[in-house]
Amino acid sequence: MEYVRNAWYVAGWSDDFNRTLKPLTILEQGVVCYRRESGEVVALEDRCPHRYLPLSKGRVLGDDVQCGYHGMTFGPDGRCVRVPGQDNLPSSAHVHRYPIQERHGIVWIWMGAPEKADPCEIFDMPEFDSNGWAVHFGDHLHIGSHYLNVAENLCDPAHVSFVHPTTLGNAASEDVPIRVVREGDVVVTSRWIRNAEPVGFFKAFGNFQGHVDRWHYYYLHPPCTSVIDFGSSSELGLDEEDRDQGMRIFALHFLTPVDATNTIDHWMHIRNAATNDDGAGDRMNELFRVAFAEDKEVLEAIQAEELKQPERRSVRIAIDRGPNMYRRIVSDMITAEKAILQTAVDEKPKA
Ligand code: FES
Ligand SMILES: [Fe+2]
Repeated sequence: MEYVRNAWYVAGWSDDFNRTLKPLTILEQGVVCYRRESGEVVALEDRCPHRYLPLSKGRVLGDDVQCGYHGMTFGPDGRCVRVPGQDNLPSSAHVHRYPIQERHGIVWIWMGAPEKADPCEIFDMPEFDSNGWAVHFGDHLHIGSHYLNVAENLCDPAHVSFVHPTTLGNAASEDVPIRVVREGDVVVTSRWIRNAEPVGFFKAFGNFQGHVDRWHYYYLHPPCTSVIDFGSSSELGLDEEDRDQGMRIFALHFLTPVDATNTIDHWMHIRNAATNDDGAGDRMNELFRVAFAEDKEVLEAIQAEELKQPERRSVRIAIDRGPNMYRRIVSDMITAEKAILQTAVDEKPKA
């Protein structure tokens, strides 16, 4: 499986990290995380360079991590600081350190060349800390599928009528056309379902009596961040720019590819309704759990079929414009990274 490496991926929520060693697999690489005494999160390669015992099987000593086999000890910068039984520290005795940033309760890890890690590139949106919005964390959903199919599902409003008939969709949207535009590298797929019965989610939380206008905007930021802006308004004929006047939810999905057949979907939401009611956030998460379990079931069944006949090409139809655009952007990102790597190899002075 090919991945975009020069990108920030979500390692977990802030609450997931403490003074114990936490092993993760991201882009097929073993990573071990822990907090320093100052609270800062550290991420190191999860493999001792001596006999390759995962460092996550060792222990935290102050700011360092000690291997659980022969006690070699590594600092938060990945450098070896102690080899029991000898005074000299071999220069090759170090592990890779992954850049980490923590903001809004989310821990981000950079999987590419450390010198290219720019915190300005971390996904952000003003609603994380604006008045009138509530931020509510969800789960780390394991999906037995490669990340491209999971991401494709997140720029695909067309599946909602069929996969989520009791929560996020209903038959009213089955034949409503989808608008697809590219804004920079972001794929935006959207549609409005005007003057129709509210879907289950908004019946439960919007207290709507009659018909509503409902919108779905899927913003897919390649490679792995998805913002689904969806909502409903009892004021019919609502302008596209006035979505804040309705009940508006941003469901955020941060995909972290594990390997060729597994992805973690870190999901959460931000909403402009019931903003002081944490219980409402929990109840919304219950409905999200139902819906995302439906996606998981579909995506894992697809993965199983793909593995049976990997050479078969799927048929693409009109609603695939967004997914096709997304795959092309990711493929271009991977090609560009490879070209930079190749240039670096070509330019390296020969010994
Ligand atoms: S395997 Fe880590 S010190 Fe020997
Ligand atoms: Fe879905």
